Amino acid sequence: MTDERLMATGASPEEDPIERSLRPQLLADYIGQTTVKQQLSVYIQAAKKREEALDHVLLYGPPGLGKTTLALVIANELAVHIRTTSGPAIEKPGDLVALLNELQPGDVLFIDEIHRLPKIVEEMLYSAMEDFYIDIVVGQGPTAHPVHFPLPPFTLVGATTRAGMLSAPLRDRFGITEHMAYYTADELTAIVQRTAGIFDMRLQPESALALARRSRGTPRIANRLLKRVRDFAEVASAESISVALVDHALNQLQVDAKGLDQIDRKLLLMMIRDYDGGPVGLATIAANIGEETATIEEMYEPYLLQIGFLKRTPRGRMVTPAGFAHLDIPYLTKK
Ligand code: ADE
Repeated sequence: MTDERLMATGASPEEDPIERSLRPQLLADYIGQTTVKQQLSVYIQAAKKREEALDHVLLYGPPGLGKTTLALVIANELAVHIRTTSGPAIEKPGDLVALLNELQPGDVLFIDEIHRLPKIVEEMLYSAMEDFYIDIVVGQGPTAHPVHFPLPPFTLVGATTRAGMLSAPLRDRFGITEHMAYYTADELTAIVQRTAGIFDMRLQPESALALARRSRGTPRIANRLLKRVRDFAEVASAESISVALVDHALNQLQVDAKGLDQIDRKLLLMMIRDYDGGPVGLATIAANIGEETATIEEMYEPYLLQIGFLKRTPRGRMVTPAGFAHLDIPYLTKK
């Protein structure tokens, strides 16, 4: 592994150095996602033994669970370079050609939000993934002619919030598909403690757990809340961070006991007040709270479903009795 490779760990060159240092570099440092790690570890070792590129990997799951971090870890474990991009950033076939052109044998190409690739680009990926070549048309009009462009064997790591949003031909070309699940409170506690160590913060163990419990199973949220707690501690000149300080900071941030934020609560309250708890269609929910349907479907709804505050029915979403109880509103059984 060259020095350059060791340094090629950021999601993008512009990434803040502190954000970068928060990311674990190896599978052994990556907390949680136990099954995913165990499986990937075998596939990575096998690929290295055979001196082949790792098969293409699709990572799917809600935002903030560490898909980008895991892609970087995979490249690090393989000791190869990684090129990072996203579906919407690849606007035309030429953009993809430029990316593929820079790959060396065994390298990782990471495409975040891969479900948002333009169709024409997605179609070019089929042969690139399957047989490591692309056919491009060079020139225009009568001089236009196809050029066959061989590629080195490489690993495409794709990330998406919902595997169902991928077309079948693309999905089928991933040899390895891994689902990222929400983290347990214990796993998030370990992540919070690791981050606190990097920030040189004195965090009592119960404080880490208190913060973890209110982070919606999501490391990105846990780390973001930890930074805000650090601000409160700084201003209060607190030597070490107590549970009381965590509670105070999170209450100020309007993050409630279950980790729900203002938008989560607005969504549930609107459904209860205006629609007796549902069923309500997704588009109606979106219009009523002023968010995009995709944002609700990918960011808010999955956790509310997971903790059993919402359920999906054929006629729309419904708030459950547990959801009513959380907002202290009596649940009235309907006719
Ligand atoms: N930081 C964010 N996610 C992490 C994880 N899964 N393991 C370790 N540190 C993290």
